[in-house]
Amino acid sequence: MSQAMDKKVVWITGASSGIGLALTKRYLEDGWRVLASARKSGELEDLLEAFDSLTFVPFDMTDDSQIEAVHDTLSSYSAHLDCAVLNAGTCEYLDINEPDWKMMDRIMSVNFFGLVNSVEVCLPLLKKASSPHLVGVSSQAVQAAFPQAEAYGASKAAIRYFLSSLRMNLKQFNVDVTCLLPGFVDTPLTQKNTFSMPFLMSPDDAAKRMFNALESRPFEYAFPKRLTAMLWAGRHFPKLWLSMLAPKTK
Ligand SMILES: NC(=O)c1ccc[n+]([C@@H]2O[C@H](COP(=O)([O-])OP(=O)(O)OC[C@H]3O[C@@H](n4cnc5c(N)ncnc54)[C@H](OP(=O)(O)O)[C@@H]3O)[C@@H](O)[C@H]2O)c1
Repeated sequence: MSQAMDKKVVWITGASSGIGLALTKRYLEDGWRVLASARKSGELEDLLEAFDSLTFVPFDMTDDSQIEAVHDTLSSYSAHLDCAVLNAGTCEYLDINEPDWKMMDRIMSVNFFGLVNSVEVCLPLLKKASSPHLVGVSSQAVQAAFPQAEAYGASKAAIRYFLSSLRMNLKQFNVDVTCLLPGFVDTPLTQKNTFSMPFLMSPDDAAKRMFNALESRPFEYAFPKRLTAMLWAGRHFPKLWLSMLAPKTK
């Protein structure tokens, strides 16, 4: 068997920046073959030059007319996928003074239906692996309400439920399913935030934690634990949480 055939193969979406880019680097350094997707290769360019085991597969996951072609492209590079990390996503906040309700649609279309489209792309290839692992990226935002996060939080909560149900259905095919719930990570997505982000991590730190945690294939992995504890308190003392986070009465 050739060396390339020996390597485990992972498909990573949202690989062109932030967490996905750092995860791509982590998998490559660990000797995996990485099929990396986003709409544009962006910051992946340097890694594409440095690693023969990295291939860019363009995919706009909101466009379901691309599903078959992206599946075919992935299968032209590998007959199976050992792992798929469905990480791509976006964020917008609702301004209640001038609400853009269509934004709910936009965010659900990328974060939730984009992830569902990505599952449609990769599931046939995962089923061909001997011990496949499907991973989706939700957020710690689902653990307690945040102001203005109506769209983002709802899309990430939908992902969490979708994956927990899919796990039930995929057990019969031996496909393990993990839902990742990262806390605040310093990426282009959060660099727009104007509020304070407790326990902010670098993308490399987040990718290292995710990569290590995925080895044992947990149902869920929420990190960092200090934020999980803070949000647990927010969920169990909702009136206090509301008084701390809600914008003050005008
Ligand atoms: N940063 C955080 O604090 C944090 C916390 C919890 C969860 N998360 C989640 O982690 C994931 C990665 O976030 P990040 O912070 O690393 O964000 P990021 O740096 O903005 O990266 C987002 C990635 O998603 C891709 N993407 C966006 N829209 C897409 C589309 N329609 N089709 C295909 N790819 C698309 C982008 O590439 P293109 O624009 O080229 O398509 C990019 O590669 C997201 O799901 C996010 O919700 C982030």
